[in-house]
Amino acid sequence: MANISKILIGSDHGGYKLKIEIIKHLNSMNIEVKDFGCYSEESCDYPVIAKAVAEAVQESGIPGILVCGTGIGMSIAANRFNGIRASHCTDTFTARMTRMHNDSNILCLGERITGIGLALDIVDIWLKTEFEGGKHLKRINML
Ligand code: RB5
Repeated sequence: MANISKILIGSDHGGYKLKIEIIKHLNSMNIEVKDFGCYSEESCDYPVIAKAVAEAVQESGIPGILVCGTGIGMSIAANRFNGIRASHCTDTFTARMTRMHNDSNILCLGERITGIGLALDIVDIWLKTEFEGGKHLKRINML
């Protein structure tokens, strides 16, 4: 994605610690981050956070990142919103391909699945990879 200056982010308690690391990483690259919660490791419900971030991505067009324990609950919840293409990634290849082919606008990560170093690489690759358009645009318009 070209010239990203802002990211919308959210997590539940299961993704809280990884979210904090991602926020620090993005801030170190001068990317502004709006955090939609949660704000501690106290138990909370991932669909509530996914809804808040998905609606903000729908309205603003700014990309989002959602973190839970596995990344799966967040991706299921976020993909219920029109125009949201949330991608659960556990490796850098899928992070790159989901930008190139799916124009992914929300990245989902699992704190209990993916270590911090790999998660930050996934974030970097997801952010820098451009959508290829063409036949892939026709396909995402069919979703
Ligand atoms: C919370 O325990 C856990 O279920 C949640 O973080 C997520 O992994 C759900 O998919």
